[in-house]
Amino acid sequence: MIETKTISIANQKGGVGKTTTAVNLAACLGDAGYKVLVIDLDPQANATSGLGIVQQQGTSLYSALLNAGDITPLIQKTVAENVDIIPSEVDLAGSEIDIARTDDYLHCFRKAVAPVAQSGIYSFIVIDCPPSLGILTMNAVTASDSLIVPMQCEYYALEGLSVITRLISQIRDSGANPKLELEGILMTMFDGRTNLAQEVVKEVKEHFPDKVYETMIPRNIRLSEAPSFGKPVIMHDRNSVGAKAYLHFTAEFLTRTGIPTDCVTVP
Ligand SMILES: Nc1ncnc2c1ncn2[C@@H]1O[C@H](COP(=O)(O)OP(=O)(O)OP(=O)(O)O)[C@@H](O)[C@H]1O
Ligand SMILES: [Mg+2]
Repeated sequence: MIETKTISIANQKGGVGKTTTAVNLAACLGDAGYKVLVIDLDPQANATSGLGIVQQQGTSLYSALLNAGDITPLIQKTVAENVDIIPSEVDLAGSEIDIARTDDYLHCFRKAVAPVAQSGIYSFIVIDCPPSLGILTMNAVTASDSLIVPMQCEYYALEGLSVITRLISQIRDSGANPKLELEGILMTMFDGRTNLAQEVVKEVKEHFPDKVYETMIPRNIRLSEAPSFGKPVIMHDRNSVGAKAYLHFTAEFLTRTGIPTDCVTVP
């Protein structure tokens, strides 16, 4: 039986490419033959619609989070090969308050997802987090092996990162999740023509020398339009710069985790 690796895609800043990364990493892993479960933990439900699923009340993790109920009935197939999802819906926003009232408020997500994570059905569970470090994100991170932080190349990028690394230390040190790691930092919407972008990458690399992925995701129109077709970019335009970037990133991610990458085909 395989061991499932659970990864949160997180950054408290909005619009940095979390959902784009969650959807496209999952699709590229699925394309390479790995079974992937995406869990959409953002009430905006962008990963849900980005994978071709229509938002529907009662289909999210909401009640399972509170009752540690069986989550298997919530799993749906997506348009992407080998990629399943537990969708989100607006109601999930209300769950933060309900979870906060429970005794074990950091572990609701872990308890609900544990049976599926331990079943070995999936090679990867990829969690798309909302743009905050609220209770939903904290729950996701507590249940994860590691975190991928997508980052836009802009001023204050490092300040934002230090907030996340502090959170990782806190969750590790508190004993809530001692094995939690920063998997890597992915620079998104990169524009190599600007000095700012290059300076930011240099600075982030100085502080996190082993953590920044060599692959950087450029700004690409195909990446931004694919969600409106309810498809990951490799299904929308496999030869686009954006698709190639996410395929490269997936190969690099697999290499770093020590998983063979010969099954990732970059066009
Ligand atoms: N590399 C890219 N090139 C062009 N557009 C992109 C790229 N990455 C993301 N976008 C677009 O930028 C917007 C924000 O991206 P995305 O939704 O992935 O960010 P997010 O961090 O999940 O946002 P939120 O914090 O609101 O959940 C979206 O419209 C998306 O299509
Ligand atoms: Mg998002």
